[in-house]
Amino acid sequence: MSFDNAIVALSNDALKLVKDNYVIGLGSGRAATTLVKSLGKLIKLKNYSIIGIPTSLQIKLIAEKVGIPLAEADQVNHIDIVFDGADQIDSQKYVIKGGGGALLRENILFSLAKKVVVMADKSKFVKNFTRTVPVEIHPLARNSVLRSIEKLGGKAELRSLDRGYPFFTENGNIILDCDFGTIKNPKVLTQKIKQTTGVLESGIFLRKPDVIYRAKTNGKFDII
Ligand code: A5P
Repeated sequence: MSFDNAIVALSNDALKLVKDNYVIGLGSGRAATTLVKSLGKLIKLKNYSIIGIPTSLQIKLIAEKVGIPLAEADQVNHIDIVFDGADQIDSQKYVIKGGGGALLRENILFSLAKKVVVMADKSKFVKNFTRTVPVEIHPLARNSVLRSIEKLGGKAELRSLDRGYPFFTENGNIILDCDFGTIKNPKVLTQKIKQTTGVLESGIFLRKPDVIYRAKTNGKFDII
């Protein structure tokens, strides 16, 4: 089942929100990649002065390739709009992010942005969250956070690469993928996770998107 055509179509629609001189947060992952490629074309076509703020080296490489001028989040005073993908979206419009490990930078941009646009295929929309929550933590807090997650009713697993080496984020931290079963109250859970010493970011973002695009299989999409 492919959502590729729908992601291309919705990216082009989402780009109607872009204006000349915008500072644009560039999320990470497949959906963000499609959008960034289209954004590169738009900038050339309209001769726009845009600054892109990447959330990972993955998207930075794509943005460089398509000629988007870049800066870091601490070099700009504001971010007009962020475009990003998501791993799961619940009926309250909370999102889980961090499947690719870029959650910390992604959440910084979400919190700075005037507008947040999230793009995801329909398989990711659920009533209540069911997938694991990525939690970025300092490596030295691995065991203490693991125990705290257990106290919150979760089961934490250290994210690792195919050959068993631990996965390190671009910030030099590690990720615990935490299984809480069905999550009925994401806000309270997130607040508790973030209160734990050693936790740097939770994959459930408390800033909800302003616009959500849902890709369908037939190349179509809708806006929620
Ligand atoms: C990166 O850490 C993630 O938050 C991604 O944005 C998320 O996994 C969505 O990626 P895809 O668009 O590749 O599914």
